[in-house]
Amino acid sequence: MVIINIPRGTQDIMPEESRKWQYIEDELRNISQNFCYSEIRTPIFESTDLFARGVGDTTDIVQKEMYTFFDKSNRSLTLRPEGTAGVVRSYIENKLFAESIKPQKLFYIGPMFRYERKQKGRYRQFVQYGVEVIGEESPRIDAEVVSLAYNIYKSFGINNIKVNINSLGNPNERQEYNDALVKHFQPRINEFCDDCKNRLHKNPMRILDCKVDAHHELMSTAPKLLDFLGEESKAYFNEVLKHLDNLNVNYEVDSNLVRGLDYYTHTAFEIMIDNPEVELKTLCGGGRYNGLVELLGGPTGEKGIGFALSIERLLLALENENIKLPIDDSIDIFVVSMGDRAGEFSVKLTNNLRLNNFKVQNDYFDKKMKAQLKLADRYNSKYTIIIGDTELTENNVIVKDMSNFTQETVNIDNVLKYFEEKIGGK
Ligand code: HAM
Repeated sequence: MVIINIPRGTQDIMPEESRKWQYIEDELRNISQNFCYSEIRTPIFESTDLFARGVGDTTDIVQKEMYTFFDKSNRSLTLRPEGTAGVVRSYIENKLFAESIKPQKLFYIGPMFRYERKQKGRYRQFVQYGVEVIGEESPRIDAEVVSLAYNIYKSFGINNIKVNINSLGNPNERQEYNDALVKHFQPRINEFCDDCKNRLHKNPMRILDCKVDAHHELMSTAPKLLDFLGEESKAYFNEVLKHLDNLNVNYEVDSNLVRGLDYYTHTAFEIMIDNPEVELKTLCGGGRYNGLVELLGGPTGEKGIGFALSIERLLLALENENIKLPIDDSIDIFVVSMGDRAGEFSVKLTNNLRLNNFKVQNDYFDKKMKAQLKLADRYNSKYTIIIGDTELTENNVIVKDMSNFTQETVNIDNVLKYFEEKIGGK
């Protein structure tokens, strides 16, 4: 029989690795709560139109990377390639704009799907953590969002990072800039890749983000978006930067940063690994999207900003910096039993301890004492309870502290109290 393999670009997360994921997800939830963000869960698939309109028809994501299918009623659906469009759809559909708390501060953790070329840190199914702040606009919000992203990495001990930040201005400023880019690239567009040729009229800013032609001389001499910003946009951006200074965020203004999704206006940023030896540097990306709510049919004037990072790349950054997460994979107690009566009793005792919130494992097969103790070791148990038929007759068990190998006899009726005192009531 031929073995069926995992789909390309996906991964199984095995128990040892999934402990890391759980730890990271718990930390992300904690930090989100400290910053007063509430969790939102939206569907993994949405109408294809949502992404075509929201993310943008001319983006790589919509043009090349979506998992789109027709359901049995012939509706075109797409596995979400990112979280923002779905959150904004939900914001509109559930009328969150009418809530008394404004802006709404939301976060999400969940799988996203992009048909991308597989390489390190790039998967076809990956898990994004993201936040969206929707409803109001203020440079303080932008600074909070950027500093939240930055401090997430710091809180895991990843210090070698830098924020690249830019302002993409308002749509009018962008239009003028796009016209200038067309003028700049058009005379020599034949020297560029097919994608760039396509982008020239559809989305000229995306040429600046091309990996193939990144070193073409016209890239460094291209007009800078910051030179096209009006006074208001410049003042807004400077205010954001001032707050970032106050928050001690290590940032650099990168006037070539354009981002790969169409909805951005004003502040746009990425967090990069600050190490020339690391090839894949981008850990996180985000920005402001002042027109998206309206574009998706919501009320006018509802402005938003957010970012997303993938847990896969966060793990990669941890690996690069050799950071071990403080994961406790020990169990509280392993119950060893010798003899039939003791074996039967161990099942009851294990269950009782588990229902009182201790992590407990026992032996299922009446193995030899030595084999059971070995298993206790493998489970990394803090304590071992040893029950023999003789001890049972005397209503006792032996408890061994695995950290120092001392042991004492404990009356069966006191076992629970004993562990509550030793390990702490849970
Ligand atoms: P994005 O830049 O497309 O933005 O993705 C954000 C992050 O998701 C990337 O920086 C990277 O960490 C991760 N990521 C993207 N693609 C992959 C992949 N194939 N494998 C592993 N990780 C990946 C967005 O998705 C926007 N929705 C962010 C946002 C939220 N903007 C405003 N609000």
